[in-house]
Amino acid sequence: MNFDIHAKDTHCNARAGSITTEHGLIETPIFMPVGTAGSVKAVHQRELTDDIQAHIILGNTYHLYLRPGLDVLNKAGGLHQFNSWQKPILTDSGGYQVYSLSGTRKIKEEGVTFKSHIDGSTHHFSPEYVMDIQRIIGADIIMAFDECTPYPCEFSYARKSMEMTHRWLKRCCDRFDSTSPEYGYSQTLFPIVQGSTFKDLRKQSAEVIASFEREGNAIGGLSVGEPAELMYEMTELVCGILPAHKPRYLMGVGTPANILEAIALGIDMFDCVMPTRNARNGMLFTTQGIINIKNEKWKKDFSPIDEMLGGYVSTAYSKAYLRHLVISGEYLAAQIASVHNLTFYLWLVKQARQQIIAGNYAAWKNKMVQQVMQRL
Ligand code: GUN
Repeated sequence: MNFDIHAKDTHCNARAGSITTEHGLIETPIFMPVGTAGSVKAVHQRELTDDIQAHIILGNTYHLYLRPGLDVLNKAGGLHQFNSWQKPILTDSGGYQVYSLSGTRKIKEEGVTFKSHIDGSTHHFSPEYVMDIQRIIGADIIMAFDECTPYPCEFSYARKSMEMTHRWLKRCCDRFDSTSPEYGYSQTLFPIVQGSTFKDLRKQSAEVIASFEREGNAIGGLSVGEPAELMYEMTELVCGILPAHKPRYLMGVGTPANILEAIALGIDMFDCVMPTRNARNGMLFTTQGIINIKNEKWKKDFSPIDEMLGGYVSTAYSKAYLRHLVISGEYLAAQIASVHNLTFYLWLVKQARQQIIAGNYAAWKNKMVQQVMQRL
């Protein structure tokens, strides 16, 4: 993997760059659509490439391990072959899903024992095993096994958890560095900064994570219910410590405003279920603001979903038609709304990149946050 920075904004810490992987180029800042179980919900691969123009998608170790399982993935020749996605893939480690999805779980130094949310069966993830699983899934970028602390969190719990995440990182690196890719192309491992909303813990964690000198770094444990200002404060502090010449990934973030603010702080990569999950509930992000398409207001609005955005679904279908599909519970509603929202998210980061290159990011960002976050 290579990371090149092409431009830096002079008024903030935003940067435009590119990550090179053996499955292709990722222009940053980038948003990664979430394809939890090997599919971005309601969106097929050609829509991801042609309409949405996604550069990279995300998969989840927890889900893929439980179903279809390692045997199937290995026999398929890895996730890229299995789901016909030939561009880059990043897999999250399960360090978040194990805590948020599995009902009962036991966290010990050795690892985490948890019950499957599918059939209640018991499983064990250790840092080493999570590396082996991600080798078999075959993502280009894989994540270290961590504990994502909830918010709010006691200082003593956050400290102990962070220290364990650091010890787990050493075990992840040892296993990753002593094993080889399964399918011939290289993989890279990103560690994750934790420390909840405590400045001294975040500082300590960022220093430890940076000292591992991996090719890129991630920030976890944010966007878990804390006020946005706290999330920005932690992100700014950590970005000041993580090396500037490596990509920085803010996990699980966020709204269009969160993304634009975090880009200004020096973040390069994002993922979030928001554009797809909210699409399925009728919430649309557009260049002019946020729409609840179920609202009576759109019943006879035959204008395109988002004319300014362009793209097939956003211009071909009217608000009134999409509202009708949503109200009628048609499958096509989820498809149109998900493709539209992801097209918007990818458009947003592409605009951000162009503004950074033009040297105008900070001013553009302030205007854009107002525009895209207003309720229509
Ligand atoms: N996704 C969102 N936040 C986190 C986190 O803290 N850890 C991991 N592994 N994934 C996440």
